[in-house]
Amino acid sequence: MNIVILAAGQGKRMKSALPKVLQTLAGKPLLQHVLETAITLQGKSSKNGPIVVVGHGAADVKDFIAGIANTHPSFNKVTTALQAEQKGTGHALLQALPKLDVNVPTLVLYGDVPLTTHKTLSALIKLADGVRSKESALALLTQNLNNPTGYGRIVRDVDGSVAAIVEEKDASSAQKAIQEINTGIMVLPTTSLKKWLKALRSSNAQGEYYLTDVIAMAVRDGVPIRTAQADQEYETVGVNSRDQLAALERLHQNTIAIQLMDSGVSLADPARLDVRGTLECGSDVFIDVGCVFEGRVTLASGTKVGPYCVIRNSVVGKSVAIHAYSHLDGAKVGNQSVIGPYARLRPGADLSNDVHIGNFVEVKNSKIASNSKANHLAYVGDSIVGSRVNIGAGTITCNYDGVNKHQTIIEDDVFIGSDTQLVAPVRVRRGATLGAGTTLTKDAPANQLTVSRAKQVSLQWQRPVKQEKKAATKNVASKKVTKATSKVMTKIGAKASTKKVMRGKK
Ligand code: UD1
Ligand code: MG
Repeated sequence: MNIVILAAGQGKRMKSALPKVLQTLAGKPLLQHVLETAITLQGKSSKNGPIVVVGHGAADVKDFIAGIANTHPSFNKVTTALQAEQKGTGHALLQALPKLDVNVPTLVLYGDVPLTTHKTLSALIKLADGVRSKESALALLTQNLNNPTGYGRIVRDVDGSVAAIVEEKDASSAQKAIQEINTGIMVLPTTSLKKWLKALRSSNAQGEYYLTDVIAMAVRDGVPIRTAQADQEYETVGVNSRDQLAALERLHQNTIAIQLMDSGVSLADPARLDVRGTLECGSDVFIDVGCVFEGRVTLASGTKVGPYCVIRNSVVGKSVAIHAYSHLDGAKVGNQSVIGPYARLRPGADLSNDVHIGNFVEVKNSKIASNSKANHLAYVGDSIVGSRVNIGAGTITCNYDGVNKHQTIIEDDVFIGSDTQLVAPVRVRRGATLGAGTTLTKDAPANQLTVSRAKQVSLQWQRPVKQEKKAATKNVASKKVTKATSKVMTKIGAKASTKKVMRGKK
């Protein structure tokens, strides 16, 4: 099976610097949706991959194809054909001719019609074979629309057989009343197609080489023409403008929401969910409003996701509670863990079972073993954290020296007091306690209290009083206190100027 994807058009109505086929739907370029379907249709055994006809923004489209082939080997066989000047759909297909295998039929897809399903297309392909002659029939995907304006109309004979496709701009008023339209998707016998494409003329309202003109040629050559329709109307909807793109996005998201609910997921509101990739859920998963899932996300059974969470490429275990406004990216979360609200798990965050990560806590590239907690305002980066560790509020692993990243190791049963800085590389041994406010620059021994902190002092003093501007005489009381404080500062070895200390904050 040859598959040609027409994608050379400009997409003027998008008013975008990006070629239309690279606009995204559900987080993926339109063209990627079409290519993925095309690749599965052709199967792994196919010698040739899909051929994309590029033109407008050809360099960007080719870059996209090269990029995706790098990460997804199944895209390796995709090739392109250049249509330097856009002279119509027939002219576009003509550019791919040298790459077509004449022994198999050719399926034509559009780069801006992203949601045609594998099922619909394989039925169309099936419809095209089954003739006794060597060549297949011609199969057209059509659609009955209440408002067919803008589309090519399927003109049928009195006996119901397809006679031609007439473009809107060339149609008579009687033809304009026809509600059966050409979706543009068709399967054609390749040997005949070669002949037909070469015979196309551009004597029509748009001065273009219409692919649709091959239908009348097929009738003349006695090639059987068959039609099929898609299960869902949105499968054949093309994207020409941003409002059409947004409308198709909602339709697609609605389909995903229904599939999720059918599989046992509860959604607070199916209209307020966005899946931009694949979301796999166990039973009794609950997802609150406004959540966005990107890439590959797995939520095991019983997990609850609070409102407005963004979860990307993450694996979440069973019965996890992810509270509102949490952000997970490249994270692994063990069973029964509690995340958020307002938590941020960055790539490499690997949490075991029953780990609690609370509000305004950021975890990056760190393994945290079971039953450990960092409940408030902390940064844990490039770390290995043991079990039953308590990380106090305001604790920070200082992993970056401005050039390199260093590791922090916190062993089992450690208690870290609030506002502690762990200057990596550093290790806190089993059972250690770090006093609040510690700046840890050397390893902390097991089972001891380690604390680095300026000594606390209490002084008799009087707050300075605001002086009247006119009576700017020296304040004796304040001077006395300055002297006393200065003495103590010297005692505790502080270098700060006493004046500065006295000034404090207003
Ligand atoms: C086409 C069909 C029309 C059908 C409609 C369905 C023709 C002549 N008309 O019309 O019967 O109802 O699609 O949406 O085929 N393209 C190129 N090179 C070109 C022109 C177009 O690659 O020179 C590509 C576009 O990028 C797009 C596809 O072909 O992916 C369709 O082109 P478009 O201009 O949108 O065709 P329509 O006028 O909508
Ligand atoms: Mg179009």
